[in-house]
Amino acid sequence: MKEALRVAVGSDHGGFRLKGEVIGFLRERGFPYQDFGTYSEEGCDYPDVAAVVARAVARGDFDRGILICGTGIGMSIVANKVPGVRAALCHDTYSARMSREHNQANILTLGQRVIGTGLALEIVSVWLETPFSNEERHLRRVGKIRELDEALRAREESGGPPVVG
Ligand code: RB5
Repeated sequence: MKEALRVAVGSDHGGFRLKGEVIGFLRERGFPYQDFGTYSEEGCDYPDVAAVVARAVARGDFDRGILICGTGIGMSIVANKVPGVRAALCHDTYSARMSREHNQANILTLGQRVIGTGLALEIVSVWLETPFSNEERHLRRVGKIRELDEALRAREESGGPPVVG
């Protein structure tokens, strides 16, 4: 039997309620998960949660991550700064499917203030169930993203010149 994906979940106060719904969905479907907070609707800073979840996914501690804030934008900006992360902000099921088939996204970001719970859970379901296409052109393109990640990692270690531009 196929191993269930391990999912890291996080939100700020703006995504707290939807995070609870997503966790309920993961439990129901039998996905192992870890909740990285936040744990109340008290205001907090989305970069703090996004960085922890993104690093956990990049390290390979989890197969996927789901990050939720008010719009999903802040979470995606921060997560995509971590080498090895391909975060996709998806508010429709087509983008969710494409982000997996074409981009092999490993983090999904959502905006609680943008879409309703029903659509959000449908997006989560499609995103978790869709495999990467493995077609040559997509492998090549994702490979180029990985090369940028490697350059970023090397720069982090050496304090060298910019990766792009
Ligand atoms: C918090 O008010 C809000 O700015 C945050 O949840 C998110 O939408 C940022 O991108």
